[in-house]
Amino acid sequence: MCKSRFKQVFSYSEGMENYLSNIFRQYTGASREHLIPILMKIQEERGFIDEEAVAVTGEYLGISTARIYSLATFYDEFRFRRRGSNHFVVCCGATCWMRGSEMITRMIEDETGVLPGGVSTDSQWSLDLTGCRGACQKGPVVLYNGEPVLFEDGDDPVAGIRKFIKGIKNE
Ligand code: FES
Repeated sequence: MCKSRFKQVFSYSEGMENYLSNIFRQYTGASREHLIPILMKIQEERGFIDEEAVAVTGEYLGISTARIYSLATFYDEFRFRRRGSNHFVVCCGATCWMRGSEMITRMIEDETGVLPGGVSTDSQWSLDLTGCRGACQKGPVVLYNGEPVLFEDGDDPVAGIRKFIKGIKNE
């Protein structure tokens, strides 16, 4: 049923049809309440949510793309660009900022050539900033490919992350 509805309404790239059809099929009724679960599923499978997926999902659910972006950007977790193979997220909440996350962000920019929200041209590196993750006592919070980078008490987090990046480069 999903698929025939697509064919009536949409024209999009080859492969996207089956891909989205399979996701939409899991949510019966094309209800607006399915928006967030559908976006989560798309991101889970593709690593990000591209413009075409947003447009098709919006048409399918009867929600404008502007509304989707407005809702989805409320959640830090959604990503609308492809990630690099080495993806850093730095917390810029107040506590982490005071504990050095600004310096860490600048160091990552210097080491990778990527600005927050960006991806390197070779798709090796990407960097995002996030709000408080609720782990302020462990700050500055830095995630690498979704996992926290851990520091020992007394460690210099900037030096620690620099060493971490150099290790990746030398692999
Ligand atoms: S400010 Fe970074 S986890 Fe709370």
